[in-house]
Amino acid sequence: MSLLWTSEALVAAMDGRPLGPMPDGISGISIDSRSLQPGDAFFAIKGEAMDGHDFATAAIKAGAGVLVVAEGKLPSLGRLTAPIIVVEDVLAALEKLGVAARARSSAKIIAVTGSAGKTTTKEALRHVLSAVGKVHASAQSFNNHWGVPLTLARMPDDCDYAVFEIGMNHPGEIRPLVKMVRPHVAIVTMIAAAHLGFFRNLDEIARAKAEIFEGLEPDGAAVLNRDDARFKLLDKMAHAAGVEHVYGFGENARSTFKLVKCELHADHSDIAARISGHDMIARIGAPGRHMVQNVLAVLGAAHLVGADLDKIALALADLSAERGRGKRHVLRHPKGPITLIDESYNANPASMAAAMALLNATPVTGEGRRIAVLGDMLELGDHSAKLHAALADLIVGTGTQTVFLGGPEMRALAEALPSEVKTEYRAGVDDLKPVLLAALQPGDVVMIKSSKGIGFAKLVDALLGKFPAESATSKQT
Ligand SMILES: Nc1ncnc2c1ncn2[C@@H]1O[C@H](COP(=O)(O)OP(=O)(O)O)[C@@H](O)[C@H]1O
Ligand SMILES: [Mg+2]
Repeated sequence: MSLLWTSEALVAAMDGRPLGPMPDGISGISIDSRSLQPGDAFFAIKGEAMDGHDFATAAIKAGAGVLVVAEGKLPSLGRLTAPIIVVEDVLAALEKLGVAARARSSAKIIAVTGSAGKTTTKEALRHVLSAVGKVHASAQSFNNHWGVPLTLARMPDDCDYAVFEIGMNHPGEIRPLVKMVRPHVAIVTMIAAAHLGFFRNLDEIARAKAEIFEGLEPDGAAVLNRDDARFKLLDKMAHAAGVEHVYGFGENARSTFKLVKCELHADHSDIAARISGHDMIARIGAPGRHMVQNVLAVLGAAHLVGADLDKIALALADLSAERGRGKRHVLRHPKGPITLIDESYNANPASMAAAMALLNATPVTGEGRRIAVLGDMLELGDHSAKLHAALADLIVGTGTQTVFLGGPEMRALAEALPSEVKTEYRAGVDDLKPVLLAALQPGDVVMIKSSKGIGFAKLVDALLGKFPAESATSKQT
């Protein structure tokens, strides 16, 4: 068993009080007894709905090597049969451990924020950098006040590269997180109306994302979307934060990481790019213009951390779209295949545009139709009705003949769509499911997208249940 932390280092980093004989160390860190691996330390974090202390016994059953618990909870835990480290506050202890992990690391560190494309960019970086060294990266979208310290604390001391996703719903959330991460390179993928309910406008969102510059290492670099309307603002904010190296990526002629040529295909893209003066070509194994944009940031960041661009470019060919983020399935229908594009993980106006473009670029067969199944984009506040209705132009501008809409906010779109677009609206996902299942025909391409909270992943599961997948052109994660 390789040790992530010795018990000695663990106790010292957290300023904890060990109870009982300690093991040599721990092999991992868990905050969820259901996914805990034997030998992990279990941190009893208190979340919104649950308190980890209630799962102490379950964690021991699952094989926890050590439990990290709060002093105040100790009396109520009773007799526990595992070693314990007592701390004042468990989340604060995890943060301290994260800071210690960062302090002992000599990895090149990249942080990714933005309104859409954080996880996609982070996973692409994980994938390509694995071709040139040992990489540590955030699990899933672990990008918040517990996800970031957890990812830091899990960082092995011998990795060459580490990639962190940093997210926010409110101003002030990124600053403390990035100060723990201390990246060498900070990427802002793009600025769009995500969580707009908590902000007055897009400039405010950009300003909150710009907090990421405040944690950059001295001499670190900011990598910004040169094609984004808020490039200038972010550029200014980066300089104001003392960042000297600000680079743009995109189609814009002044980009340092510049797209020279781009051919979009249904299941991949071919690009030519100039990365800090190096000309290169690459095939990107996951489709979509938005993926090309993310890849430009990936190439720029990889170059900045000293990775060999030829190896990085080759690795791009076997990138694949992730579940809920563009993953494709070819479904078996008795009379011919149906293509399913699973975009059910999240949705905001920018990612809706990206996904509609993806649908539009995917060929139908025979009598097949392009079908968009769209659910509410959440957290848009007062702007919600207007932004939902505005999707009508997007749909009319593409070759989508049929739309299925679900969720209270989507009513505004149902009302805004012209009569030539065949529209089925239902208030919720459960009502929509049978209508959709009954309507699909061989040759159709169907794209399912909504904010996660609306539960459109259920529709994906229902389709996969009714028509088993022939082959998945993308990996399962
Ligand atoms: N650069 C981008 N611009 C616009 N939309 C994007 C971009 N990258 C990804 N997307 C869209 O956003 C969705 C969510 O991507 P993800 O990487 O999970 O974002 P995040 O982690 O920022 O929430 C994808 O399924 C895709 O539709
Ligand atoms: Mg994410």
